[in-house]
Formats: sequence, structure tokens, C-alpha cells
Amino acid sequence: MTVVDLRDNADFTANPYPYYAKLRAEGPVHRVRTHEADEVWLVVGHEEARAALADPRLSKDWRDFGDWEYEDTPVSANMLESDPPRHTRLRKLVAREFTPRRIEALRPRVQEITDGLLDTMLAAPGRRADLVDSLAFPLPMTVICELLGVPDLDRETFRRLSNEAVAPTADDGKNTSVREMGEYLVGLIEDKRCTQPADDLMSALIRTRHEDGDALSPDELIGMAFLLLVAGHETTVNLISNGVRALLDHPAQLAALRADPDALIDGAVEEMLRYDGPVETSTYRFTSEPVEYGGTVIPAGRSVLVALASAGRDPGRHPDPDRFDITRAPQGHLAFGHGIHYCLGAPLARMEGRIAIRTLLERAPGLERDPDGGPLEWLPGLLIRGVRHLPVRW
Ligand code: HEM
Repeated sequence: MTVVDLRDNADFTANPYPYYAKLRAEGPVHRVRTHEADEVWLVVGHEEARAALADPRLSKDWRDFGDWEYEDTPVSANMLESDPPRHTRLRKLVAREFTPRRIEALRPRVQEITDGLLDTMLAAPGRRADLVDSLAFPLPMTVICELLGVPDLDRETFRRLSNEAVAPTADDGKNTSVREMGEYLVGLIEDKRCTQPADDLMSALIRTRHEDGDALSPDELIGMAFLLLVAGHETTVNLISNGVRALLDHPAQLAALRADPDALIDGAVEEMLRYDGPVETSTYRFTSEPVEYGGTVIPAGRSVLVALASAGRDPGRHPDPDRFDITRAPQGHLAFGHGIHYCLGAPLARMEGRIAIRTLLERAPGLERDPDGGPLEWLPGLLIRGVRHLPVRW
């Protein structure tokens, strides 16, 4: 099997779907070369993707796989880089904060933040704005900061480091930014520990550590803060901006949603996740023994990525997959992953996406792409799919 080179391909970054279609037509599993590794096994078929995501023979703990060149910093002591039993323990500590019922209680506050951001955006001179800076970035960032209890986060610094961690622009960008972010979080947690105990998630996690010595190690506390802060905003920002972009590029779908948001908003957000979701490939997994998917054997000790974006366009699962249709109810899409690492924040992300997009459409009649906004700049790398800015007018 030849190795497909996915490096420095601007066409692929702007629109990977035709490439994934070609790969799927040739088979469900391929070997590719990326900026991070000379050889990664990429799973592109829906069924095989679902199988790989739930396969316990694929480990998330890269420390066991010798030649992987990431640095082991405190930040990596998080559940998404762990296998059971540590994964089970870490996830259990926060899972109850993210149940649909707990998240539903945040609805009025999410609506209030959205309204405030739209008040500012819609007052912009010339009826033009960047949707990412005005709404898609600050909404999830504010929500996750409030939930964790870190309102004084230096958001611009954090945004820069976090962007570089998930979509590196420099060779060692990921390692450098993750290290810096770890140092930043140590300070943040120290400050938090010195202030009055508060009724927020970070305070609760710090207390867990104090009350029950080995419940959460200092590194695990940093890893948890890192994962929740990064996963909590880097993804949802692109759900909102990719979703709005899809609507603006499909006027009939936009008109249908405007006409009956009560009936259509939930399904529309699911279709946005399937059609052009924020997480293009899963995070890395490693084969602890040879595994076989769809007739292809991946040897032991190899790194594997699951192309969630490709699975969402697999015609075997979603008929006429390249058509954006907000009424299709795309059951079983993999945009939030599958198996034990299934997205913890899915209920929160769905709620934020629904409120943000619905309120935007209600308050910005005539919303469209700004024709003078210049070309779109795509985020580099395979992990996150989205644009840095989305210029709009109304
Ligand atoms: C539209 C927005 C989002 C999408 C598409 C998304 C997608 C995903 C995916 C695909 C995974 C699994 C990755 C893998 O298996 O390699 C994941 C895991 C995770 N996500 Fe999300 N996510 C979103 C929003 C959020 C939010 C808002 C939070 C937090 C508040 C969050 C927290 C997490 C955590 C903690 C994990 C790791 C779970 C584990 O390892 O057990 N995500 N997410």
C-alpha cells in the first residue's frame, strides 16, 4: 500500500472531502504521511471508523509507544491521553458535571452571553463583522471559563497557545505551546487555591485533591484544566462558524431554518456536525497488537487516526452524503467520537451551537458572507477543521 502524502496540500486543507471520497473508494484504511509522523494509519470508512474508536486494542496512552516524539508534560495527564483504569477514574470525577440535566441548567446563562455578544456585534459600524471574533470564539470560551471558574483567564494568550496546540503552524509548535500552557495553568491553579473556595468545577477538583490525597494528582489537575479549556472552546467555535458557513452557502436550507427554527434547529446542528464538523480526525491511537479493519491489517505499535470527517461523508452510512440537508436527521454520525472517549462535552456543545445559531438568525436578517471579506484562511493540520475568520454582513 502506498503512503499518501497529506503535507503542504492547500487544496486538501481547504476541502478534504474529495480526497476522502477517493480514499474511501479504494478502501477503508490507508497509510498517510502528515507533518507529525512519516506514517500514520488513517481509517476513512464509517463502519471501520466506528469499530476503531471503540477498539480496546487501540491505546490512547502514547507513553507506551517508544518513538513518539511528544514531550511528557503535566498537561498530558488527561483522560483523552489515558486508557482504563486511569481514564475511567478521571472521567468519573467530572462526568456528573456534564450530564444533559446539569447542562440544561446553564441554558439561561448561555442565552444571556449570546445576546450580549450579538448586541455588540450588531452595533458594528457598516453592518459587517467577523463572526469568529464576535460570537463563535467568545461564546464557548466564556461558558467554559465560567463553568470551570477561571473568569480572569488571559483569553488572548490562551487562545494563541491553544490554537497552536491543536493546529500547529510551526514544526515544534505543538510541544512549545503545550509546555507554555502547562506553565500558565500552574499559576492559574495556584491563584485559585489561594482565593476563597467557590462553587465551580476547578474549586471542586482542587478540593477533591485535598480531601482524598491520591484522587487527583497535581499533574492530573493541570491535565484536566487543559483538556476542558481546550476541548471546550476549540471545537465549539468551529461548530458555530462551519455551521453558519454551510447555511450561508445553501440559501434554501437557510430559508427553511429561518421559517421554522423550533422544528429544525436541533436537526440542523446535527447535520452541521456530520457535513462539516469541527473535529476532522480523532486524536492519535496506537495499536497494542495487530488489528484488522475491512480486510486491512494494521501491525502492532503503529499510530492510527480516525477520519471523522470522512466517516460523515460515507455513502454507505449517509445517502447522498455531499448534500447539506438540515432535514435529514443524520443518526449515528461520529462527529463527537464513539466508545469510552465519546465527547464529554457533547450536550454542552449542542446547546451552545443551537442557541448561538438560532439567535444569530433571529437577530441578523439578511445575514450573508461579506464579499469584501477576502479569502478564507483555513486552520492547518488534520485535527481541527475550520477558518480563522468568517467575515459576514447583514
Ligand atoms: C462541537 C463541539 C465538539 C466536538 C465536535 C467534540 C468532539 C470530540 C471528539 C471527536 C472527541 C473524541 C476524540 C477521540 O476519541 O480521539 C471528544 C472528546 C472529548 N471532548 Fe469534545 N467536542 C466538542 C465540544 C466539547 C466541549 C464543549 C467539551 C467540554 C466542555 C468537550 C470535552 C471533551 C472531553 C473532556 C473529551 C475527552 C473524553 C474522554 O477521553 O473520555 N468537548 N470531543
